[in-house]
Amino acid sequence: MPVRSRRIDASRCGVASFLYHPWFCRVVCRLGRSRARQLAGWVDEVAVHGATVLDVGSGLGQVAHELRGRGHRVLTLDPRYPPIEGGPHLWGSAGSLPLADASFDVVLFCFVLHHMPAGYHLAVLREARRVARRQVVLLEDTFASNYELRRTMFFDSLLNLEFARHPHANRASGGWLDLLRDAGLGPHLHWERKVTAFGVFPMRQALVLGTVP
Ligand SMILES: C[S@@+](CC[C@H](N)C(=O)[O-])C[C@H]1O[C@@H](n2cnc3c(N)ncnc32)[C@H](O)[C@@H]1O
Repeated sequence: MPVRSRRIDASRCGVASFLYHPWFCRVVCRLGRSRARQLAGWVDEVAVHGATVLDVGSGLGQVAHELRGRGHRVLTLDPRYPPIEGGPHLWGSAGSLPLADASFDVVLFCFVLHHMPAGYHLAVLREARRVARRQVVLLEDTFASNYELRRTMFFDSLLNLEFARHPHANRASGGWLDLLRDAGLGPHLHWERKVTAFGVFPMRQALVLGTVP
């Protein structure tokens, strides 16, 4: 099922969502640099050296920039934002990737899927599986109790300044594993742990892998 409409591209990522000015985006990028380094390090742990990576929902492209610094070849794809640091970019949507089968070692979703309605997740992951040669990598905000879910929803809205249209389509790690299996991938929970996002906000995050059989 293609996910093309602007309504589905509902994520308004960060302060930059309503302040598209390049200067402001650069400030946001600078503030998010250490986060991007950390995320890229996590992806680097599971990707083969020099992997080709499709970064779906790349936002301002900081994670892609850091991954390039680690020797990976990254194409960013986002319906809304261009990568601030440059690099090859496709305007597009996760549900219908204009790319050949098995054309990237890794298809990466870095805190993207819970910004899309849950009913689209399976179609999006099937499309990712088509394009991936080795792995689909998910970084997600997860939860282990109703309290953690509420807390995550609150901080996620706050960090993204997205209070009205955020679908909050979070899943527990087991839910992501089931979904990857349904998409035809070999699911594996690489880790799940409590973190302090931006050094302040208590969250639970997981790195979930779907291996192409
Ligand atoms: C919270 S931001 C994450 C940005 C980046 N991955 C990061 O972690 O810094 C979510 C991103 O998902 C993108 N997005 C929303 N719907 C999408 C869709 N259907 N296909 C691809 N990207 C989408 C948004 O434009 C936004 O850039």
